[in-house]
Amino acid sequence: MKNPKSNSINRRQFLYGSSLGVALFHILPGRALGAERTSANEKLGVAGIGVGSQGGGDIDAVAQEGQNIVALCDVDAQYAAKKFAQYPKARTFKDYRVMLDKMGKDIDAVVIGTPDHTHAVIALEAMRRGKHVYCEKPLAHSVREIRTLMAAARQHKVVTQLGNQGHSSDTIRRLCEWVWAGAVGPVHTVHAGCDAFKEVYCQLRNLDKLDKSYEVPKSLDYDLWIGPVPFRPYTPFWVHWNWRGWMPFGTGTVGDWFCHVVDPSFWALDLDAPSSVRAEVTDYDPARHGLTYPPATKITFEFPARKERGPVKLIWHDGNNRIPKPENFSADDQVPGTGAVLFGAKGMIVHGSHGAGGCRLVPDKLMEQYSGRNAPAAKIPRVKGHAWDWIEAIRTGRQAGSNFDYGGPLTQAALLGAIAIRFPGQTLKWDDQEALFTNHDAANAFVNPPYRDGWSL
Ligand SMILES: NC(=O)c1ccc[n+]([C@@H]2O[C@H](COP(=O)([O-])OP(=O)(O)OC[C@H]3O[C@@H](n4cnc5c(N)ncnc54)[C@H](O)[C@@H]3O)[C@@H](O)[C@H]2O)c1
Repeated sequence: MKNPKSNSINRRQFLYGSSLGVALFHILPGRALGAERTSANEKLGVAGIGVGSQGGGDIDAVAQEGQNIVALCDVDAQYAAKKFAQYPKARTFKDYRVMLDKMGKDIDAVVIGTPDHTHAVIALEAMRRGKHVYCEKPLAHSVREIRTLMAAARQHKVVTQLGNQGHSSDTIRRLCEWVWAGAVGPVHTVHAGCDAFKEVYCQLRNLDKLDKSYEVPKSLDYDLWIGPVPFRPYTPFWVHWNWRGWMPFGTGTVGDWFCHVVDPSFWALDLDAPSSVRAEVTDYDPARHGLTYPPATKITFEFPARKERGPVKLIWHDGNNRIPKPENFSADDQVPGTGAVLFGAKGMIVHGSHGAGGCRLVPDKLMEQYSGRNAPAAKIPRVKGHAWDWIEAIRTGRQAGSNFDYGGPLTQAALLGAIAIRFPGQTLKWDDQEALFTNHDAANAFVNPPYRDGWSL
């Protein structure tokens, strides 16, 4: 999924392939990144779009880095009321297009915390106007959207950051350095997964309530909330938090968590596009239940050999289907409910979510060999935080760690998994160059799903 025409190596390629030993950040001249304000003393004007929940936390993180929150935009003034009140100097808006028109150059950068189905239209509109973008994960809701955003970020030379905040942790860096130092030998298999919030991702219980008629709350601009997705009448079951369990809007557990949980493997093993993906589901019939996600899912991704590493099989588990306990685990060794186990020829790495939290080597003797004074040299520069990294990148004219050239392919793998859920038991073969499944026309319809009239990318 890499852009062969891009003359700028991305940070992941650089760090992985660096022959310098100690890798440096990918530095570009400030002007080349379109950053108009790169002075360390000048504050950026930042706008939040979708601030009622996670996006509000993201805006706080940017404010804590000393930047000016100049505008807040949300389609539901009530849901976002606390955040609006917290920043009384910020102008408030309902429609991000109106905000971008009216605020013009007062906005240098935007933070997007809307549901998955509106990330792409908002991020694209902002980048076209030269704004730097921090966008919550997953980057988008379809493969076509991801590719459009990646191309636009390069074209408009803006600094981008996906909101998988664990990417800025020290632990994910330590895990990469363990893998690169050969602590567990070549990694061939990864079991990853998430057992959190099962009731929101699987909404089978609410399927028969969707036909009832519900009044749209006065504070909510439902038409804007729907945005580019073909219109469906309002129900309280799919707005605010709940959307993540409904296919037209959310991407299920795999879409919500892959960018956190698989991020360490993706970086350490230099993964890109899988060559195939196959889902198995439990107590679920896509023909009858296909608006929501299954109660238990297992998805197998085959990643082809790349550069010096061999092929990698990644098995994703969610809902009631948990990561299996490895055979050689001792009785009290815990497998994370949300996290991953990387299997190498010599041992394993076990970690939790958000930047490989709590990562450790198994067996214990490997921990002694590769930690403390014996830890491999730090090859990846440490950063002070995810918002910090993005702002520092804007100021200094480099790219941020989880920029769209990294977060795009990471999200794409997750979304291919979400498509496979619609066709359980079938191996879907992916041609990344052509961006299509070579053996499944029906699955291809979800690579580039139609937009509602009046909306386009
Ligand atoms: N990085 C993390 O750890 C993390 C955690 C939670 C959520 N997220 C991500 O953050 C995003 C939001 O999730 P959430 O749980 O906060 O959802 P939410 O539904 O609770 O909040 C979304 C907010 O966006 C507003 N909104 C919706 N459409 C809008 C539009 N077109 N324009 C402006 N505002 C709009 C809503 O009114 C609401 O205030 C998702 O992409 C999710 O995956 C990330």
